[in-house]
Amino acid sequence: MTKHIVLLPGDGIGKEIMNSAKQILGAVVSEFGHSFSLQEQDIGGAAIDQYDTPLPEATVEACQEADGILLGAVGGKKWDAMPAEKRPEKGLLGIRKELGLFANLRPVKGFPSLLHASPLKEHIIDGSDILIIRELTGGLYFGQPSERRDNGNAVVDTLYYRKEEMERIIDKAFQSARLRNNHLTSVDKANVLESSRMWREIVNEKSKEYPDVVVEHELVDAAAMKLITQPSQFDVMVTENMFGDILSDEASVLTGSLGMLPSASVRSDGVGLYEPVHGSAPDIAGKGIANPLGTILSVALMLRHSFQMEEEAAAVERAVRECLEQGYYTADLNIANGQIVSTEQMTEAVLDNLTVKSVSDSICSMYVL
Ligand code: IPM
Ligand code: MG
Repeated sequence: MTKHIVLLPGDGIGKEIMNSAKQILGAVVSEFGHSFSLQEQDIGGAAIDQYDTPLPEATVEACQEADGILLGAVGGKKWDAMPAEKRPEKGLLGIRKELGLFANLRPVKGFPSLLHASPLKEHIIDGSDILIIRELTGGLYFGQPSERRDNGNAVVDTLYYRKEEMERIIDKAFQSARLRNNHLTSVDKANVLESSRMWREIVNEKSKEYPDVVVEHELVDAAAMKLITQPSQFDVMVTENMFGDILSDEASVLTGSLGMLPSASVRSDGVGLYEPVHGSAPDIAGKGIANPLGTILSVALMLRHSFQMEEEAAAVERAVRECLEQGYYTADLNIANGQIVSTEQMTEAVLDNLTVKSVSDSICSMYVL
């Protein structure tokens, strides 16, 4: 059966890395005999330029029909001065909300050959394998429209969560912990925020349904510190929208570069939007040097979680690992003896390694979507 995939390249390096994704999807088709149909749509700044909105109706409709959605990145200086409703980021927040993609899964697991690419000491990051689960459609990023008050001398952003919104993401986190090492760290700021106290109550209540999962509560400031001092202590971390946004960028340091991290934004029925964790990187856009691996690994997540193509996903992940072992690195990876290659060359290297082999060495542990 043909899987219908909507591609949302977006802005900056988004177009370049989406090109890599298309080639990988093409290789999966020829290697494994699948049929994918690809449809490109605009989002973010590219959509503002053409349609005067960061999220055109046609994009929403196409995504609603899709079996899987792949996104590059949104944003750039060009649109910085735009009013809030016309910022590229609104397109991304909007499509997550429209599709009800409440669970953002960000697996953080380094490749052995990149251990030394991290600014952190190898013995600290060795063995770390974390799944960050971020609530994605509530909280501060979706409160009442922000406003300036008192002639511009005051400002309001609103953090609003419904209990059900917390329950469903926390439930997802417990289920994911069960499929991994049964260890869940819930991150909040319960010593200050009422929303965090409610969050913590729900975690404690839910934990009665999952007696086999060990639960710890961590305040977000302490969690941020432990993430880079004792990362191997974490298994699954679950947190609200903004904390998860910040912690996941921080956690990318464990893998050597933000350019390596994939993510899945999903709802309960398996429909998902897949994207690298990094942004549109306007400073290097158009130079052909962006790291395509976060996007390529996002393709693997889509194959696994939206299409149940485990063998194919594992093959893509293995191909990535092999080309790193062969010494190919993009410029964002701080490697002393590596061969710095372009986006295109890195993609070629992955394609060269993408053949049907054993599936036992998938880099990503399992997680429930
Ligand atoms: C991310 C990004 C987005 C977010 C921005 C671009 C709106 O930082 O996916 O982490 O904050 O969710
Ligand atoms: Mg972010």
